[in-house]
Amino acid sequence: MTTSTVVIGTQWGDEGKGKICDVLSQYFDATARFNGGPNAGHTVQHGDQRIKLHHLPSGVANGRHALMMPGMICRPDELFEEIKMVAETTGTFPHVTVDRRIHIITERHREIDADKESARGDNKIGTTLTGNGPCYADKSHREGSRLDMAVFDRESPYHKILRDMVKYGLIGDSVREIRDMLDSGRSVLFEGAHGFMLDIDHGSYPYVTSSTCGATGIGMHIDPLEVCGVMKAYSTRIGAGAFLTEIESDAISDYIRERGREYGTTTGRPRRIGWLDLSVLEECHRVNDLDYLALTMVDVLSQLHQFHVKLRNGEWTSFPGWGYDISGVREFQHLPSGIRELVSTIETQLSIPVRMISVGPRTEEVIWRS
Ligand code: IMP
Ligand code: MG
Repeated sequence: MTTSTVVIGTQWGDEGKGKICDVLSQYFDATARFNGGPNAGHTVQHGDQRIKLHHLPSGVANGRHALMMPGMICRPDELFEEIKMVAETTGTFPHVTVDRRIHIITERHREIDADKESARGDNKIGTTLTGNGPCYADKSHREGSRLDMAVFDRESPYHKILRDMVKYGLIGDSVREIRDMLDSGRSVLFEGAHGFMLDIDHGSYPYVTSSTCGATGIGMHIDPLEVCGVMKAYSTRIGAGAFLTEIESDAISDYIRERGREYGTTTGRPRRIGWLDLSVLEECHRVNDLDYLALTMVDVLSQLHQFHVKLRNGEWTSFPGWGYDISGVREFQHLPSGIRELVSTIETQLSIPVRMISVGPRTEEVIWRS
C-alpha cells in the first residue's frame, strides 16, 4: 500500500509541483489540495496538451478523485469553469469534492487587493491580485462567506452557480471523505500550493501569501504521512521581497527564463531568476521534516557552461554544464556529471535523499532513485 504523501514547494512556488503530483498521483486513490486558492497555478502536461489548473489538485488530470479541503478559498464561477475545462480536455467529468467550508473570494476582495497594492507604492508585495489576502482577512475577521452559507443566500452572486454545483454533487465534506478513505486502507496525495518561503508564518513576511504552504497546512492529522519537498535546480521568485541569490538581469537569467518558461501561470509576469540556495531548503526541512526531495527543471540548465549553488554556510560552489538534451535519460548514472554532483551535494548538505529527478516537462521524463 502507498503511504499517504504531502507534496510541498520548498522555495518560492513554481518548483514543478504540478508535474511531480501528476507523476505521483497514479499511485494514490485520491488527491487533495489544502491551502490557497486561484492565486496558485499548476501546469500539467496531459498528452500533448498543457492543462493550467488554479483550484483543482493536479492529480485530477490523471482521473483521480480530487478534493478541495477547508483551508482553501475559491471563486465558485471560475472553479466551475475549471472543472468543465478538465472534463473537455480529458474526456471525462472529474470526480471532485469541494469542501462546504471553503471561503468565497468576491469581486470586492479583488478590488481591495488591487487598491491595497497601489496604495503600497514602492513597497508592493506583488500579489497575484486574485483577492487572496482580503478573502483570508475576512475569514479571520469572522466576516467571510463560506460555500455552505452562500448556497442558501439568494443575495450572493454565486447563489445559482452553487446550486448547480450541489446538483452535480460537487460540494461536500472533504475531511470526512478523506478520513473514510484512509480508514479503509486507501491513500491520499496532498498537494501544497505556492512554496515554503511564501508561508504566512515561516516565509519572508510581509512578502508572503496568506495561507500555510507547508505540510501542517493540511489541517488534519494524517499518520503515516510522507513529506515530499519539490525543489528546482535554480530559484525563481515572482512578486517582491528578498531574493539573496538573484541573478541580475543578464543573458543567463534570460536564457533560464525562456528555457524554463518562467512566467507566472496566473499573472503571466516574468519571474525573477536566481541560483539555488540550500539555506532555504534547510529552513524548509527544519519545519517540515522532509522525507525525500524531488529535484526538477535540471534540463533547463542544459546549455549553461556552468551553474552555481549557494551552500548552507553561505559559500558558493559551481558545477559544469553539459550542452546536450537529457530528456530521454532514465538512469541516474547516465546523467551528466554536473547533475550527479549537484544531487550528491544536496544530499550531503541536507541529509535528505533526492528520490526523483525531473528531466523534462512530460510526465514520463523523470528518473527514480531508490
Ligand atoms: P498573493 O498570494 O496573490 O497574495 O501574493 C502574495 C505573494 O505570493 C506574491 O509575491 C505572489 O507573487 C506570490 N505567489 C502567490 N501564489 C504563488 C504561486 O503559486 N507561485 C509563486 N508565487 C506565488
Ligand atoms: Mg505556479
